[in-house]
Order: sequence, then C-alpha cells, then structure tokens
Amino acid sequence: MKLRSTDQRLVCTLMLRSLALVLYGVLAARALNNGLAKTPTMGWLHWERFMCNLNCQEEPDSCISEQLFMQMAELMVSDGWKDVGYEYLCIDDCWMAPQRDSEDRLQADPQRFPGGIRHLANYVHSKGLKLGIYADVGNKTCAGFPGSFGHYDLDAQTFADWGVDLLKFDGCYCDSIKHLENGYKYMSLALNRTGRSIVYSCEWPFYLWPFHKPNYTTIRQYCNHWRNFVDVSDSWESIKSILDWTSFHQEKIVDVAGPGGWNDPDMLVIGNFGLSWDQQVTQMALWAIMAAPLLMSNDLRQISPQAKDLLQNKDVIAINQDPLGKQGYRLRKEDNIEVWERPLSNLAWAVAVRNLQEIGGPHFYTITIVSLGRGVACNPSCFITQLLPVKRELGFYEWTSSFKTQINPTGTVLLRLEATRMLQKN
Ligand SMILES: *[C@@H]1O[C@H](CO)[C@@H](O)[C@H](O)[C@H]1NC(C)=O
Ligand SMILES: *[C@@H]1O[C@H](CO)[C@@H](O)[C@H](O)[C@H]1NC(C)=O
Ligand SMILES: *[C@@H]1O[C@H](CO)[C@@H](O)[C@H](O)[C@H]1NC(C)=O
Repeated sequence: MKLRSTDQRLVCTLMLRSLALVLYGVLAARALNNGLAKTPTMGWLHWERFMCNLNCQEEPDSCISEQLFMQMAELMVSDGWKDVGYEYLCIDDCWMAPQRDSEDRLQADPQRFPGGIRHLANYVHSKGLKLGIYADVGNKTCAGFPGSFGHYDLDAQTFADWGVDLLKFDGCYCDSIKHLENGYKYMSLALNRTGRSIVYSCEWPFYLWPFHKPNYTTIRQYCNHWRNFVDVSDSWESIKSILDWTSFHQEKIVDVAGPGGWNDPDMLVIGNFGLSWDQQVTQMALWAIMAAPLLMSNDLRQISPQAKDLLQNKDVIAINQDPLGKQGYRLRKEDNIEVWERPLSNLAWAVAVRNLQEIGGPHFYTITIVSLGRGVACNPSCFITQLLPVKRELGFYEWTSSFKTQINPTGTVLLRLEATRMLQKN
C-alpha cells in the first residue's frame, strides 16, 4: 500500500513536470517567420572536408569549384542521399572572387566557377536539390574574401537573384558587438525583403559568447539555426568538446530550439578519417538527440558503405526530424556513462547511452525504465527498439522494470521507446 501511494505521488509529480514542459513549449519564443526549417536542415556543406582549397591546378578534384558542387549534386541524387532527406548542397567560404564587380556585387571566382552561381543554382535545382551559399557580417569573410558589411541589401538581393536557398552568415572581421548584432538582424530582414525563401544560418551566438551571454529569444526571431561553439574538426576530441559544451549549457539552449529555429553543433564528419566506427555512431546518435541540422562534410565520391548506411539510417533520421521538434538533453552522467533523452511525437522517446570510457571493452549498464522520459515514457509499458549501433527489437517493458545494455568504449547505444498506449490506438 505504502509503495503504491509513493508510486502515485511520483506519477503526479512527473505529470505536472511534463505539463509545465508543454506550457513552456507554448510560450516558447517565436521563430523566424519564413516558413523554413520546420525540421532541422539536412544537406552537405563543403568546409570541414574541403576547407579553402584554391589550388585547382594541382588538386582539381578537391578545390572549391563548380565542378566539386556539380559532382556532389549528382551523387546526392544517384546514391540515395536526397531520398532520405539530404537536400541542401551548401557552399562555404572561398567561393568568391577577391573583389566585388564594377556594380559592387559579390561575384564568384571566374576561374573556379566559370558558369557563375546562377548557373550552378539552376543545375542544383534541376536535380531537385537546393543551393546554400556563404557570406560574412563583417568587412571580410574568415578567409579574407569580401565581407557584406555596408552591402547587406545588395548581397541579399544578389543571392535571391541567383536562386540561392540558404545563407550561412559568418561573423569574422566584425569590430563591435553592435555591428555584429545589428548586422545579423539586418541581413535577416534584407533576406525577407527579397521575397525569396532563404534559410538563414547564423553564427551570432558563437561570436557573442566571449563577451556576454546571447539572448536566444532574440536570435530565434531572426535565424533558422545558429552556431554556438567552435568549428567541428575530424577528430574525437572535437566531437567530445561539442557534446560537453552542449550539455554544460543545456539549461540555456535546449528549450529555445523548435520548429523554425535550431541550435547548430556544426557538421557531421562521418565518412572521413578521424573517427572510429563507434565514434561515428556517437556523432550520428547525438546529433539526432540534439535536433541538430544534419549537414555532412565528407567526400560522397569516396565514402565507405558502412558510413553511408549510418548517415542514411532512416530510423535515426526520423528521430532527428521528429515533427514535435523538441531538442534532447543530457539526463545524467554517472561514472563513465552518460544518458541523453529526447521527447518525440506520439509520446515516444529517444534515449542515447554513451560510454565515455576510452580503455577496456564493452561496458554493461542497467537502466531503470522509470528514470527515463520524465517517468512517463513507459507508463504503463513501452516497446523498446535499439536503433544503433545495430537495429534490434528489445521488446515490451513494464514501467517498473529495467534492462541491461552493452556499449563499446566511446560508442553510443541509441534506443527508441514507443508508449504501448499509443501502439494500441494505432
Ligand atoms: C517575411 O516576413 C513576413 C512577416 O514576418 C512573413 O509573413 C513573410 O512570409 C516573410 N517572407 C519571406 C520570403 O520570408
Ligand atoms: C569596416 O571597416 C570600416 C573602415 O575601417 C569600419 O569603420 C567599420 O566599423 C568596419 N565594420 C565592421 C563590421 O567591422
Ligand atoms: C531578450 O530579448 C527579448 C526580446 O527579443 C526581451 O523581451 C528579453 O527581455 C531579453 N532578455 C534578456 C535577458 O535581456
């Protein structure tokens, strides 16, 4: 009897807590009203893999040129990337000529992009994809090409005229917080005034953090996604530091994410050189939990079948793209295990269990079901499917039960919990 009433009190507390969450969701900040990024943007972005390679003489296959983007566009369609949702083919820094043209407009480097961006956009659109481009709020881009300061309206119009669908707006060479904040806001309004639907990807909070805490309510009103932390690189240290930054700041950043506006932990580096298999699984699983834009930076011409399967895993993509649009968070950290969870539509939950250990073998970890999903995920029972590292149906679990999982060092087990009361309805 006694146990029972404690149980009920726990249920009530948990229900109230989730009600509070729902109310908070309703009151959450307004998103940029351009109708875009209702789920996190998916696509490909050149930076991490191809950087600022200008040497088309000696490295024609990896320099930043229209040929690179046309090849990627073809592969995005022929190799099934588009079918699973990767839609935006995005150019980063180093596409420009060193000077603006005679009418002050930005122009693509004529040797590397002989057809110009308009031509490339047409090609990309003919494949059913969308084209992203890059510019900078300050006087120069990070690599030293012309910045947009003083030219926001002209540049927004130029991109719209070319048929661009996404703008990544960097924050290098900007001499004051005032210029930075006003510039990011102004460009958002300038893009809107063109009348073209253009996803607006910002780095505004990242450049603010050294000086003061960003106001995410404001940022969400102007940007479709925003970078908070340093660039990803092709290393486990980099992935770990991004996850650590995110969990450390989760109180401030998780609730602000939702349809139309997302925290951007930067590109997926799966399929490159620096991550082991388990570490690639960790990046894919946690980027899904974080409701992160899925922008791959890799070479689609040379990618292992295993990395391709991971990046094209429909179950994991479905978690990332879940229409409820709530970002997940780190639930707890104990010893060398972290548990993350994310609420999904239809009362489902995603749970990721990370093994932080970098020594030894697989780690066994027992999870009490009631500790997951604010106590309601498996009330009264649920069906659990392991999605990563391999798909396995684990079966039905009662609210009061527990289950044991096994996670490789630096790896992650990703689970999906479906409430049985929803399964019965269907
Ligand atoms: C511009 O903003 C208005 C008001 O927020 C919105 O209704 C409209 O759809 C936006 N247009 C574009 C192209 O984003
Ligand atoms: C750009 O350079 C001009 C001239 O030096 C300066 O007045 C202006 O504040 C700079 N803008 C930014 C955003 O750094
Ligand atoms: C953040 O900006 C919003 C309006 O965009 C404002 O209402 C709110 O007071 C600001 N928050 C802080 C802490 O300054």
